[in-house]
Amino acid sequence: MGDRKGHVTTAGRPKHLADWLTLKDQALDVVAEGVTIADARQPDRPLIYINQGFERMTGFPIEDVLGRNCRFLQGPETDPAAVAQIRTALAERRECVLEILNYRKDGTTFWNRLSITPLRDAAGEVTHFIGIQSDVTARRVAEDGLRKAKQALENDLRLAARVQQALLPPPEIQAGGLRIAHAFHPCDDLAGDGVGVVSLPHNRLGIYLLDVSGHGVGAALLSFTLAHLLSPTIEGSLLTENDGTGASVVPPSRVAERLNRQFPMDRTRQYFTLVYGVADPSSGHFQYVMTGHPAPVLLPRTGPPASVPGSGLPVGMIDDASYDDETLTLGPGDRLYCYTDGAIEALGAAGEEFGLDRLLAEIARWRELPLRAGLDRIADTVRAWSGGPLKDDVSLLAIERTG
Ligand SMILES: Cc1cc2nc3c(=O)[nH]c(=O)nc-3n(C[C@H](O)[C@H](O)[C@H](O)COP(=O)(O)O)c2cc1C
Repeated sequence: MGDRKGHVTTAGRPKHLADWLTLKDQALDVVAEGVTIADARQPDRPLIYINQGFERMTGFPIEDVLGRNCRFLQGPETDPAAVAQIRTALAERRECVLEILNYRKDGTTFWNRLSITPLRDAAGEVTHFIGIQSDVTARRVAEDGLRKAKQALENDLRLAARVQQALLPPPEIQAGGLRIAHAFHPCDDLAGDGVGVVSLPHNRLGIYLLDVSGHGVGAALLSFTLAHLLSPTIEGSLLTENDGTGASVVPPSRVAERLNRQFPMDRTRQYFTLVYGVADPSSGHFQYVMTGHPAPVLLPRTGPPASVPGSGLPVGMIDDASYDDETLTLGPGDRLYCYTDGAIEALGAAGEEFGLDRLLAEIARWRELPLRAGLDRIADTVRAWSGGPLKDDVSLLAIERTG
């Protein structure tokens, strides 16, 4: 029962003070926390009361404890800074709450969430300090485990990211009359974007830029797998076939169809977009397929940049999707730019997308720069547009006919 101020009324209280105090003692003894009282007016603030919770928590029986300063709970691993914090608070006669490593009677350690509050008499003088001890070891151990697991995971991701970087082609390649460069900017450690330049039979080059839906480990795993499958040196490569008369290059549209069969959505829960093309470095001929990917941009030696034709569904979206090949021929000085949607969908401060028009302007703006340097400038502009960390991978790949 409470009165109107919320205080407990005296109704129901034992009549004799001794009974009432015994009842209070019993109440204090059943709580799990330690409750301690130190005398502030005696030298070195000895303990004058501990409850049974303190005995259970520390293993020290009451007869070992009364009359001593509570520092006997400290040991070699106790942080001196925590002890100093208590010392200062007590000297300044104010409350303090902290977590400190303490030792039980048997020498084992526990984390003690300790709160100490001064008690004042009517004249305002501090007469006692009340200490409340809670064993928070389980929580500290769990936090420690989490921290270690997070650290291990971060190390793993960094290692995987290094492997992913090592799988990338060199930043710029000269192959016959073609120069190929890329700029790869993952938004996390691991990218869902992938870029590759591979040698194919008959002096052809296979060139791709792909973007797996989502980010992180799942997207990166699929991107790793695709890098493997799109490598012509492996058994069962999707890029070449052998009809008995020698190896031949599989047309890009059929590569897309093969990928679509290998990665149905119901198995991977992911889809990906891709530009894959087969280039002939001697003629500048480029046969390519697009699977839901933003259309590459052709920058003729003179004249404005423009998107090239082509369309197709992302790989993995529907069974039996069919794809068409497109072709173009790069003349001397012409450049072809491929990009992932992270480049045009980067959001600016006002929530506006970077957009294709700005990308086209950037491509034209840096046309006098060497291929790779121009890509870096474009990537810098996109990054600056997004104002902070990238929300999506931004990858650019460009091909220039130099010959
Ligand atoms: C009521 C009270 C309870 C205390 N309980 C603990 C405790 O549970 N664990 C601990 O390490 N220190 C505890 N202390 C702090 C130590 O008794 C001591 O004040 C601290 O070590 C700083 O002083 P020192 O530098 O003289 O050792 C308590 C102090 C008071 C006044």
